[in-house]
Amino acid sequence: RKKLLVDVDCGVDDAQAIMLALAAPNVDLLGVTCVHGNTTVENVCRNTLRVLQACDRLEIPVFKGAAKPLVGNSINSGHFHGLDGLGDAPDPNAPSADLVQEESAVMAMIRIVNENPGEVSLVATAPLTNLALAVRLDPSLPSKLRGLYIMGGNTESRGNTTACGEFNFTADPEAAYIVLNDYCCPTYLACWEFTCYSKLSWEFCDTWLAQPTAKARFMARISRHSIEASLGKRVQKELVGGSGFVSCDSYAMAAAVDETFVIESDCYPVSVELTGMHTRGMMVVDTRGILNKTHKALIMKKVDLEKFKEMMMAALK
Ligand code: BDR
Ligand code: CA
Repeated sequence: RKKLLVDVDCGVDDAQAIMLALAAPNVDLLGVTCVHGNTTVENVCRNTLRVLQACDRLEIPVFKGAAKPLVGNSINSGHFHGLDGLGDAPDPNAPSADLVQEESAVMAMIRIVNENPGEVSLVATAPLTNLALAVRLDPSLPSKLRGLYIMGGNTESRGNTTACGEFNFTADPEAAYIVLNDYCCPTYLACWEFTCYSKLSWEFCDTWLAQPTAKARFMARISRHSIEASLGKRVQKELVGGSGFVSCDSYAMAAAVDETFVIESDCYPVSVELTGMHTRGMMVVDTRGILNKTHKALIMKKVDLEKFKEMMMAALK
């Protein structure tokens, strides 16, 4: 069985990614670590508990992590995910915040990986602040990971946050820099443009959400805001890869859950721009070996979309 640890800023697609993992028969989700990003880290913890509650899996431990990036202040994506991160859909039965573990996310990450050396895959679908802090406290951590699966970065300088920056990297560029330079384990990247080119159709989305289950009803409620934002005329014109439903974080999760999911990837050293006036937070792909780095990341290019649809459907069963 695969042991996964997931680091989230639980917005709508993080929720979808968590539910995809919970539905996978071969996965043990050892814990969910939370970090600032789409919304405050407090909301992220609450959202994660709501997702686990919807799946009847509240026994999975949830840990609170960094409230801010390493440098500067948090940004958020309330315009897309809703101010609370889950579509501002009322939830009078949300689990109590008391269920969040006392141990911090970063310490939990270090402990869990050290308890299972070589066995844990880390899936990061958020700004990389927790992962950067963890490797600074325990430099041996990356060598003990089975793999690292990140949703973040971009390959064509097409941003979703700044002109050429993707949200997770732009929300903490220093953390992304540390992770891409210090995590020398097999590293898979689901970058922004790739997720857009791998969109699912709105027809699929309708069928997916119309499943007669409590999980589908929960997903339909929390997704409404982001679906409306995606359908909005202004956004639609700007969308990479045309209109459609994109669950960015679920691609990173699907790759961790099933190693046959990624059909084609590019393999290059990668880094992040920290100082550019227009380009801070933008991913740098070193196709010519100029950076003199030995570690290369696998940048997803083509995935099995039929398998993806099956996994997404199963997530709401
Ligand atoms: C990423 O940013 C967040 O809004 C999403 O949850 C995803 O992790 C996409 O750029
Ligand atoms: Ca996310």
